[in-house]
Amino acid sequence: MKKIEAIVRPEKLEPLKDALLKQQVNGLTINQVLGCGKQYGFTEYVRGNTIIMNTLPKIEIMLVVPDERLEEIIETIISIAQTGKFGDGKIFVTEVTDCIRIRTKERGEKAL
Ligand SMILES: Nc1ncnc2c1ncn2[C@@H]1O[C@H](COP(=O)(O)OP(=O)(O)OP(=O)(O)O)[C@@H](O)[C@H]1O
Ligand SMILES: [Mg+2]
Repeated sequence: MKKIEAIVRPEKLEPLKDALLKQQVNGLTINQVLGCGKQYGFTEYVRGNTIIMNTLPKIEIMLVVPDERLEEIIETIISIAQTGKFGDGKIFVTEVTDCIRIRTKERGEKAL
């Protein structure tokens, strides 16, 4: 099992959620977050003053998927979240060692 953490632009939440649910993912968790990438946010000039915004609002979508579905889901996320401009976001992938459905005590992939 793999955990996918995708950090995307807030306006991509709805289309991404629709696409992932259409692909019948097992479940997902959504967080509103603040973050920055290598540009450290952005700089704005207001009435002669420089304001540096270090972090920008983003949406984090977390889902755990069977190994064989990883690439398909990464492709879906990219196809929706990519605009080609700075700040499109990032996808982190980590190994998940177990999953437990609390209601039934099922373990592993069948509990996803
Ligand atoms: N190395 C990182 N660790 C944790 N979170 C990150 C990391 N890089 C990016 N993020 C998260 O992803 C969001 C979007 O990052 P962003 O797309 O700006 O990355 P980038 O490396 O600056 O790429 P780009 O040059 O395309 O803007 C950030 O606001 C932050 O929440
Ligand atoms: Mg950036």
